[in-house]
Amino acid sequence: MIHMPKYEKIWMAVGTGSLILFLIVLGIMAGTMGLNPPDGMETTVEPENVEASAPFDQPGLKQIGPNEYEAVILSYIFGYKPNQITVPEGSTVHFKITSKDVVHGFFVPGTTTNLMAVPGHVAEYTQTFDEAGEYLFVCHEYCGSGHHLMYGNIIVEE
Ligand code: CUA
Repeated sequence: MIHMPKYEKIWMAVGTGSLILFLIVLGIMAGTMGLNPPDGMETTVEPENVEASAPFDQPGLKQIGPNEYEAVILSYIFGYKPNQITVPEGSTVHFKITSKDVVHGFFVPGTTTNLMAVPGHVAEYTQTFDEAGEYLFVCHEYCGSGHHLMYGNIIVEE
């Protein structure tokens, strides 16, 4: 046993005490925040069974009205299913995105579509494509070695 002056022992006790307190607070914070989905991600899905659960059992584009579409996209390491959708100019697209493994992103440069694909949660966003052209969508959450290979495109036809 190392001999220490009494005040050092007191400071050590204070230090250990605050470390424990810090860890407890951190634990409580993680417990309350950890599993709460960010805004707009209320819908949940079981990540293990995502490919057997609607609508992700049939990912793809579905017309739901005149000029209105639903795009169900499943993200995974390292890609999107589907990785290409084609809609006519002026279409409104309701995106529904999730991930079957780790957190991915879904960002469409040149638009306001910017989603996080979190396993277990369904991220939704509605975007209208008024200008014809080819829009890229990319993963903008680092997800591993193939992160930079995660992209697809939206073709907006005249
Ligand atoms: Cu998926 Cu980065």
